[in-house]
Amino acid sequence: MEAAGKRVCVTGAGGFIASWLVKLLLSRGHYAVRGTVRDPGASKNAHLKALEGARERLQLVKADLLDYNSVVSAVASCEGVFHVASPVPSGRSSNPEVDVIDPAVTGTSNVLKACYEAKVRRVVVVSSAVAVFSNPNWPKGKPFDEECWSDEEYCRKNEIILQNWYYLSKTLAEREAFAYVAKTGLDVVTICPSLVFGPLMQPTINTSSKVLLNYIKGDRDAIENRIRNIVDVRDVADALLLAYEKSEASGRYICSSPPIKVSDIINILKNLYPTYPYPKNFVEVEENSVFSFEKLQKLGWTFRPIEETLRDSVKSYKAFGFLN
Ligand SMILES: NC(=O)c1ccc[n+]([C@@H]2O[C@H](COP(=O)([O-])OP(=O)(O)OC[C@H]3O[C@@H](n4cnc5c(N)ncnc54)[C@H](OP(=O)(O)O)[C@@H]3O)[C@@H](O)[C@H]2O)c1
Repeated sequence: MEAAGKRVCVTGAGGFIASWLVKLLLSRGHYAVRGTVRDPGASKNAHLKALEGARERLQLVKADLLDYNSVVSAVASCEGVFHVASPVPSGRSSNPEVDVIDPAVTGTSNVLKACYEAKVRRVVVVSSAVAVFSNPNWPKGKPFDEECWSDEEYCRKNEIILQNWYYLSKTLAEREAFAYVAKTGLDVVTICPSLVFGPLMQPTINTSSKVLLNYIKGDRDAIENRIRNIVDVRDVADALLLAYEKSEASGRYICSSPPIKVSDIINILKNLYPTYPYPKNFVEVEENSVFSFEKLQKLGWTFRPIEETLRDSVKSYKAFGFLN
């Protein structure tokens, strides 16, 4: 099953981002990967077993973030851990503590505690840009950087209206991670991706890919012309590995390509794939949502052009039957 080499654990291995990370780790040849999933036999995780190197160096284990003992077993004897798993709700949640907040926050503390006990060398935690930019006190016009934290009370007020609770869950979870670092000295680096698009490896459609799919087949007359900060899923996997491998990596990193208006995304898509029922009109929205990703670039990170991301996303939606 697992050949010699550095053993690392990836939580939530079958998800959109984690699948690309597992593929990247296996492609390096010297990592043995232990991926946690909630249902190792499920067909939605079959793509992992088909990866090159999986037979020799991938082990899938059953773990739930809220079952501490399962997390302890998952990280045992690992040199590094990538904590990727967290609920990404696509709509309202009627039981937010149970469905969203607890798995994110208690899940993160369970993973970090287990890593500390197991003497894991470094933990890379996937946070989110939503833990960065939801802060009305950040100076208008200044790009959001790693110094900015989403304001918990502001998130809470918005969540009462939206009933999604994702922003709050990710903000509390990342805060929890750094509080644990302050207490124990565990080596933790966080990556805060913006909205992630890119080709699917898993056969199901995840929440952020639904956003792009909705642009393509939304069949609406009008759409808000927001600024979107997008990042390719393959570039997120690169960022996670860089954060793990570079000894100088520390603190949090925003992971995003440059901002783009929704109308520009749709124009690129129209050029590539002219026949879909794209929105016809745009309602202008003014907002302060430009991110600085300089810190990650200084670590050696690069990102691919948005055209490539959009083209490959659509190709995969077609391959999986989400688009004709
Ligand atoms: N996609 C984005 O735009 C984006 C942007 C910024 C940050 N992120 C972060 O990136 C990470 C992965 O997101 P994704 O987009 O790849 O979403 P995804 O495909 O929905 O993956 C989420 C993963 O979390 C696992 N999970 C949820 N609750 C769990 C629990 N209680 N115990 C164990 N596993 C649990 C899911 O496992 P099951 O398959 O068993 O349900 C799934 O594998 C999340 O931390 C998310 O917050 C995503």
